[in-house]
Amino acid sequence: MLTANSAALREDNVVDIRDYVAGQENKGLLRFLTCGSVDDGKSTLIGRLLYDTKLIFEDQLATLERDSKKHGTAGDGIDFALLVDGLEAEREQGITIDVAYRFFATPKRKFIVADTPGHEQYTRNMATGASTADLAIVLVDARQGILPQTRRHSMIASLLGIRHIVLAVNKIDLVDFDRQVFERIAEEYRAFAEDLGFDTIQPIPISARHGDNIIVPSKNTAWYGGPSLIAHLETVDVDARVEDRPFRFPVQYVSRPDLDFRGFSGTVASGRVALGDRVTVAKSGRQSRVKQLVTHGGDLSEAVEGQAVTIVLEDEVELSRGNMLVGTEGRPHVADQFAANLVWFDEKPLLPGRAYILRTETDEVSATVSQLKHRRNINNFAQEAATSLELNEVGVCNFSLQAPIAFDAFSDNRATGAFILIDRLTNATVGAGMILRPLRRAANIHWQALDVTPQARAEIKHQKPAVLWFTGLSGSGKSTIANLLEKKLHASGRHTYILDGDNVRHGLNRDLGFTDEDRVENIRRVAETAKLMADAGLIVLVSFISPFRAERRMARELMNDGEFVEVFVDTPFDECAKRDPKGLYAKALKGEIQNFTGVDSPYEPPERADIHVSTVGRAPEDLVDQVEAWLKERGYC
Ligand code: ADX
Repeated sequence: MLTANSAALREDNVVDIRDYVAGQENKGLLRFLTCGSVDDGKSTLIGRLLYDTKLIFEDQLATLERDSKKHGTAGDGIDFALLVDGLEAEREQGITIDVAYRFFATPKRKFIVADTPGHEQYTRNMATGASTADLAIVLVDARQGILPQTRRHSMIASLLGIRHIVLAVNKIDLVDFDRQVFERIAEEYRAFAEDLGFDTIQPIPISARHGDNIIVPSKNTAWYGGPSLIAHLETVDVDARVEDRPFRFPVQYVSRPDLDFRGFSGTVASGRVALGDRVTVAKSGRQSRVKQLVTHGGDLSEAVEGQAVTIVLEDEVELSRGNMLVGTEGRPHVADQFAANLVWFDEKPLLPGRAYILRTETDEVSATVSQLKHRRNINNFAQEAATSLELNEVGVCNFSLQAPIAFDAFSDNRATGAFILIDRLTNATVGAGMILRPLRRAANIHWQALDVTPQARAEIKHQKPAVLWFTGLSGSGKSTIANLLEKKLHASGRHTYILDGDNVRHGLNRDLGFTDEDRVENIRRVAETAKLMADAGLIVLVSFISPFRAERRMARELMNDGEFVEVFVDTPFDECAKRDPKGLYAKALKGEIQNFTGVDSPYEPPERADIHVSTVGRAPEDLVDQVEAWLKERGYC
């Protein structure tokens, strides 16, 4: 899951690491990540682990010793943070890598640590790194104790399905190896983490810089009876994996090298599948049998979790990327509405009602948060009412998807129960979700077939339905133009209706104000209304500021092809403020009205409106003629 941010190995080490991992195949594997606040010693700890387990290459070691003398903060000693930071610098020069996976091993176990750099985008990287992690090392500076970040990262780790925590109380040397400091922090952590559902929490006093309790118990903490960090990592039992989980195979692509071969390629997300097994297509319920299991290394008789394979079926079935092959027992959910935990990563807050791209391991669909149920308080994990989620906040949301997807609850399957959200305009990953349960409310609602079709309704009116969407600043002239145009259309026998911001806000949308969230909902409702009116065969004139590109795009996509015509009524801010037909600009500029468009609320002008009318120095009649000419040319009137 969460593949939007690519993880990569350092190019030059790829071969070494492959060999290395292959050689270690029979040892148990522990995947973990480290989290903590800035300066808690994350880089130093990872550097120390790599160093002490001897996975630093000779050349790196020489550079490290030299750099430590030059730039280090550790006196004559080696500054291990430079090791990891050095790798970070390499990363900056190459392709962007948000999470790097580092490998090391001891005779007992092999380890993959997700190194998640970048303090600003920490939660995003953490969510990426944590998606497959079994354990999190939560670093705390012994001098600082538990900070808000500690709580936030622990809560996110819990949501991401991590069940084992090492509370590494670092820099214990700087508090004179004081037992009481350690115990107080450990106690406080246990108390607040009680509700987070971790199976194990192991507090360990460490000094990443000096190596205390990293590999062997430190003499400086004779009072501490627990294991060293490595000893704990080597022995902690994380294998809670249920052996016979249901078979899940998200299809990555259909392999069709020639007409005789059609196979479905992907990686087994859970369970197992064998030749001759009956399997089901998740979304359609169609069944078939496994005829062949093809891999690069030859055919298999069985494939298990984690294996990449191409499955050939006995029958021709409809199946493509985004769908899943599953067992006949224990089928996944297929729904277009569900509840999920959401971690928000973006500077711009989540806006319920806005369409985002929801991407699962292989599927992708447009989705909105239909309801933000609550936000989690990071201090006491209490549920709080909220209208949006800000950067790094976590909440429970109901999602509404444009089409059904196949999924499991995240608690049942971390691969098929997770998704990311992507901003449609910037393509940035803005959130990560963990599905709780499908919502059945929509399951029993079907489209009712109607005999009188939209075409029939339009034909009887002898017109082509359209949604003429006027956007622009308040006072730009949208309503004036729309009003004049409607008069003309009406006079020539057209069936029309005007949806005007000020008017609709007196009725249908009287509960909405001017926050970003309310404006998104305002436009969502008016777009749905315009859609119904267009289906009724009308030419609808919509006159709303509609300041956001995302919602105007949503409105366009809601309509049938060619139905939506975006008209940008382009009047500069200063001109609108001068005209100020309702006296609102004067008030807003004096600070008497909040969230006023163009003052303290943004307006995103269209990049490519269908019709662009510049109003300055032109008479309204002239502008209407321009719009009318465009419509005539294309057969709208
Ligand atoms: S929209 O941004 O949500 O599309 P809408 O078109 O419905 O706005 O409403 C805009 C009208 O509300 C303006 O023409 C103006 O008369 C009035 N109004 C009152 N307060 C504001 C405000 N803070 N920002 C913009 N318009 C406001």
